[in-house]
Amino acid sequence: MATDFLARRAPALGLTGLFTVLLAACDGPPDRTPTLSDADVKRGRQLVTDKGCVACHSFPDVQWPRGGLGPSLENFGRQGLIAGRLPNQPGVLVRFVRDAPAHLPGTAMPAIPMTDQEARDVTAYLLQLKPR
Ligand code: HEC
Repeated sequence: MATDFLARRAPALGLTGLFTVLLAACDGPPDRTPTLSDADVKRGRQLVTDKGCVACHSFPDVQWPRGGLGPSLENFGRQGLIAGRLPNQPGVLVRFVRDAPAHLPGTAMPAIPMTDQEARDVTAYLLQLKPR
């Protein structure tokens, strides 16, 4: 039992240690929300070409190709939902762009191999797409 453990350990841990243990216990799983502070919109722009996103999607600043199999992403930064089903938030989008089928079973969008950094760059780029 966690409480027995705490009762036995509390004196040894001291007040600060006890607090740390209690906080860790109440905190739930660690926050895995990725930070986009190190993401680079320009690299993201290049990646949507390099990774082949442009074959299926159109982007405001890509003249060609302008793929039509997937929805246009010209306005994507304004959208509240990803594919009408997932909240359009950085943490969700970062996972969606590299593995859509894991999040939308049956979707026609394939998984696209990317590093964590690449997924963050692509996400930062997508989230700033707005009509001019
Ligand atoms: C083979 C075609 C294909 C490729 C390549 C592709 N997608 Fe998609 N994508 C789709 C389709 C189809 C959908 C619609 C998903 C659905 O509704 O199930 C979609 C949906 C999306 C959405 C949600 C759009 C919306 O309006 O909500 C985003 C964002 C997206 N793709 C980004 C990307 C990015 C970034 C890449 C490249 C890393 C990429 N896609 C590569 C086909 C593709």
